Amino acid sequence: MADIKIRVQDYTGEIKEIEAPTDMNLSLMELLKANEYPVLATCGGMALCATCHVKVEEGFEKLSESGDNELDMIDTLPNAEYNSRLACQLRLNDAMDGMLVRLAADENDL
Ligand code: FES
Repeated sequence: MADIKIRVQDYTGEIKEIEAPTDMNLSLMELLKANEYPVLATCGGMALCATCHVKVEEGFEKLSESGDNELDMIDTLPNAEYNSRLACQLRLNDAMDGMLVRLAADENDL
């Protein structure tokens, strides 16, 4: 099973490419935590805390649509944009190969 590659932009602006398995049913949030990005994920992936907020700078259109819980949470974020997603609601899959996500929870202003 081939891994995919995802590019991540951290709060310093640095972009790194990380490898991601697609056969472990991991969420993007879990992948970011495993790679030691500062994602608190205080709700444990329930779409309730938005500390996993990312903006998908490339590849957004390839993602599955947000569920109602995710949309409701994103609606509460003052810094939400059209490409905002909760990383805990994104299951890693082949369509994400090459995507670029930017960490955005530091702008949440919660
Ligand atoms: S981990 Fe809390 S909303 Fe994603």
